[in-house]
Amino acid sequence: MSLDRTARAWLADTFAGNVRFEEPMSRHTSFRVGGPAEALVRPAEKDDLVRLVRWAAEQGIDYMPLGAGSNILVRQTGIRGLVIALDSCLDVIRENDAAAAEPRITAGAGVNLSGLCARALKNGLKGLNFALGIPGTVGGGIRVNAGTRDGCMGDLVESITLLMPQGSFRRLAKTELFFSYRKLDWPAEPAFWANRDPIILEAALGFQRADKQDLQKEAQQIMRERKTHQPWTAKSAGCIFKNPAGERSAGQLIDMAGLKGKRIGDAQVSTRHANFIINKGQATADDVLALMDLVRSTVSQRYQIQLETEVRIVG
Ligand code: EPU
Repeated sequence: MSLDRTARAWLADTFAGNVRFEEPMSRHTSFRVGGPAEALVRPAEKDDLVRLVRWAAEQGIDYMPLGAGSNILVRQTGIRGLVIALDSCLDVIRENDAAAAEPRITAGAGVNLSGLCARALKNGLKGLNFALGIPGTVGGGIRVNAGTRDGCMGDLVESITLLMPQGSFRRLAKTELFFSYRKLDWPAEPAFWANRDPIILEAALGFQRADKQDLQKEAQQIMRERKTHQPWTAKSAGCIFKNPAGERSAGQLIDMAGLKGKRIGDAQVSTRHANFIINKGQATADDVLALMDLVRSTVSQRYQIQLETEVRIVG
């Protein structure tokens, strides 16, 4: 359901400076495209978040959690209901004893991945280097099982704490979480079938101890590769398509089809890595979607391979 006058008044009263109505999502996504959220709320504390989710459940109002906005494409029509930004209220990091045999960091969903990578490196904790340079948050990264060929978030997760759509808390152990290629499936229980996703509050991540210098060397190599092969500073949502089964990656197929540099409006297939679409300035979500269709149909005609979207299309 969308927001009526009473709902808007409650939000404005309860969240004052932390709510914005008709907020363009182009301001909150790394792609810098997307129509407005009816309301974007940034709860300052975890209690405020819980209160908001319980209220939304009572009112039957839809919500979408937002991390760094780095893996989503918001349609021009925007998002009905609430977008809940988690970067202010879930940004706490706790690390277990430096002498513990099994080092662990418990991180709030709103914690930035790059900050967490830097901390792990500084403390000689191995496991998260693959995520260097992935723009995103812990919660978003876990929800989409972000990763590279060197690893993925699911490899580290020991447990997560969730805020369920009706407002209760739930802790899930690794054995109840089903990670696969860029995907996390919830347990097959009715509580997870609601049309709203639970919100990841925090995650316990397991590391191994390693030599700091070796870790630094590996980190430098990963960052060098990323900066050389990917459009590092461009406005994008990372890789657009999943790698299909088989020998050739999505980037390779799009490149072989001659689509590097192909442009619709201000959306362009990156000339550096063909599985990235970049916003050259004023691209709209429609430009990006049209270019994705063109890429998909060209690859399908040439190679009889159907590319699946990796970026989440919302709205
Ligand atoms: N290639 C081309 N042309 C291109 C791009 C790539 O020929 O335009 C070739 C490369 O030379 C290489 C192969 O395709 O032989 C694979 O390319 P790359 O090493 O760049 O890896 P990828 O499979 O395209 C994956 C992840 C990236 C991650 C990199 C690095 C997916 C969909 N992509 O890309 O993740 O950064 O590995 O580990 O799994 C993301 O998830 O947003 C993302 C960018």
